[in-house]
Amino acid sequence: MLFFRQSDDETNKMLPFKSLTSSKQLTPEIIETFFTVTDKMAADIEAKGRIDLLDDKVVALLFFEPSSRTMMSFQSAAQRLKAGMVFAQNASSTSFEKGESLEDLIRMVEAYSDIIVMRHAQQGSADIAAGISKVPFINAGDGGNEHPTQALIDAYTIHKEKGRLDSLNIVFGYDSLQSRSIHSLSRVLSQYEGNRFTFTGPKELEPSDRLLADLRATGTECIIANEVNLHDGYDVAYVNRLQEERFENKVIFEKNRQKYRLNRVDVENSGCLILDPLPRIDEISTEVDDLPNALYFKQASHGVPVRMALLAMLLGKA
Ligand code: NCD
Repeated sequence: MLFFRQSDDETNKMLPFKSLTSSKQLTPEIIETFFTVTDKMAADIEAKGRIDLLDDKVVALLFFEPSSRTMMSFQSAAQRLKAGMVFAQNASSTSFEKGESLEDLIRMVEAYSDIIVMRHAQQGSADIAAGISKVPFINAGDGGNEHPTQALIDAYTIHKEKGRLDSLNIVFGYDSLQSRSIHSLSRVLSQYEGNRFTFTGPKELEPSDRLLADLRATGTECIIANEVNLHDGYDVAYVNRLQEERFENKVIFEKNRQKYRLNRVDVENSGCLILDPLPRIDEISTEVDDLPNALYFKQASHGVPVRMALLAMLLGKA
């Protein structure tokens, strides 16, 4: 379920929606505009450090699941736009602990802020919150479902390096079933012509039939492979840790956690860009870090201008 509700006073000219809950909302046209605004934000950071764009706004950051990069880059983005902030950082420090519903929490937070960013362990919580909220809402990860702002960062990074988002030969691994980052990025890239996806990793963690059907319905070729050799002409490898916190059967996690790792020999001279939404746990050896095609830290650094662009655009200020 998607919410594109817009009230007259909140009509924003740059985006056809009020809240971002799913990467399904991110069409190639929107992404193109978005990249232009992100480039402008990156130039502003470089030239001025902070700009006055949101100095009349308050951003609410609700993080009910662990986060480092997403939370800090949203904070940094809000700071660089001179917005004020209010926080709730884990469920136990809020009235959730007392049994308050998500709906009631959002009704309260919308009175304290002009835009709400939320990470929550429950799949679908973003749609519920966006449906309730009178102010724009951003999904910063809803359980194993979606992570659309990460997809924007990932797409921006690939575009910066390759100059295109089409005709790419992409590997996804290693927990395509439960990684919300893989779900959101694959959905975004499936809208571009000529991309080919190879999903690799443990058999139990292959993408869901639903995701595969959606991706294939766009005409994107999707392959499941036990093993891949990055020297075989791949443009991008997008890898992610096994999502430990989402395993119902911990045996599957323990059995596979050490099995899937990119080592230096797998990556060096392959010409394949290595991306990872991070945190890196077992999936990439640290000996890969200084290779020119290891992009994950650069990718994480794009989080600030990307999230500045999104906040400004959703608040009609870009
Ligand atoms: C990802 C997430 O939270 O889904 N991290 C992030 O936001 N950069 C990936 C992960 O936790 O593995």
